[in-house]
Amino acid sequence: MTALAQAHRALNLAQGLMWLEPDPRLLELASAQVGQPGNHHQYSFPAGYPPLQEQVAALSERFFGVRYDPTSEITITVGATEGLFAAILALTTPGGEAVFVEPAYDSYLPAFRMAGLQARPVSIPLKLPWAFPWDHLEAVLSSATQLLLLNFPHNPTGLCLRQADLVRLEAIAERFPELFIVVDEAYELMTWHPDWRQEEAVRPVSVRQSPLLRERAVVVGSLGKMVGATGWRLGYVAAPPALTAAIRAVHQFIPFCAPTPLQAVVAAYLSQDLERALYFHRPLLARRRFFLERLVQSTSLEVLPPEGGYFVLVRPPGVTQGDVELAEALTREVGVAAIPLGPFYSSEEGEGWLRLCFARPIELLEEACERLSRAFPLAAASTDRRL
Ligand SMILES: Cc1ncc(COP(=O)(O)O)c(C=O)c1O
Repeated sequence: MTALAQAHRALNLAQGLMWLEPDPRLLELASAQVGQPGNHHQYSFPAGYPPLQEQVAALSERFFGVRYDPTSEITITVGATEGLFAAILALTTPGGEAVFVEPAYDSYLPAFRMAGLQARPVSIPLKLPWAFPWDHLEAVLSSATQLLLLNFPHNPTGLCLRQADLVRLEAIAERFPELFIVVDEAYELMTWHPDWRQEEAVRPVSVRQSPLLRERAVVVGSLGKMVGATGWRLGYVAAPPALTAAIRAVHQFIPFCAPTPLQAVVAAYLSQDLERALYFHRPLLARRRFFLERLVQSTSLEVLPPEGGYFVLVRPPGVTQGDVELAEALTREVGVAAIPLGPFYSSEEGEGWLRLCFARPIELLEEACERLSRAFPLAAASTDRRL
């Protein structure tokens, strides 16, 4: 979609990366440290550069009230993507079964396939109010399921974990004592007030807060997303020691270690002030409000506001095309590039839903809303479309 956006000079709300600059203090630390001679130009331990493992443990304690031992329970990976891949390979055997939730981030299915797994999807219904399909999930799980992969806050719906969900997941963990539970928390701290008019973050809920799940689950995070430098390829895996040992045994033979100089910079950045992990909250909340307000007030698009992350799902009224065709037409004819939802599913079509990324400059969002309102004008009779 990005290539198509460029070809048609469309506004690119498709690509999932943030078009927001990282904190200048992070960049200052990078220029001060990376150019200096020192050990940080060599391999780190495969488990990670110890000061960064400590910061990841400190983040968990500060924002979730849950302590991990940095040495035996935190592994620094090459982005969340490698952490997920290493966990999937480590905890499954070829021919086994993995259950995951769709629409799904696009690395899951290839990872399952490379691990030789049968993947069974469970779909989140795309309608408000959001509800996680626990009943369906429970019906799909069996003693043959080796791994359950969840994602909260969820890409692309923005669905977040709630306290009540922990009880459901605990029941699953108890019913299937051999099941490995892996939770992709790439957007871990980006959890927003359910009313999008409120520019407020809410305390995130994580599986790690359940004492039972803390000992059973593997949590995967993205430091690149947290500090707005996804190209630095830093992520982490937090898991109890036995699971960590298994995951490290795989991780060691994929990248060996994550880039040491960048681990050192992020460790220094967070150690000066852990609240820097929330650096993007304010700009993202302002953009969520601005974008949703414009979409609701000036277009006839159906809109699903997110509780977390930085994507919003929209669907044109009376859509008849497939979502891929629709996304291409939107790029060519309206000048706004979006991601169709079809590719987030292993088989189904995305039913006309499109994902827009609002981690963009405000002026770009404003122009996108102008174009969308011309293409999908709000009927005069329905000006009050409060969600
Ligand atoms: C749900 C989800 N998981 C994982 C990732 C990958 O994170 P990383 O860049 O740290 O590999 C992304 C990136 O968009 C994502 O949306």
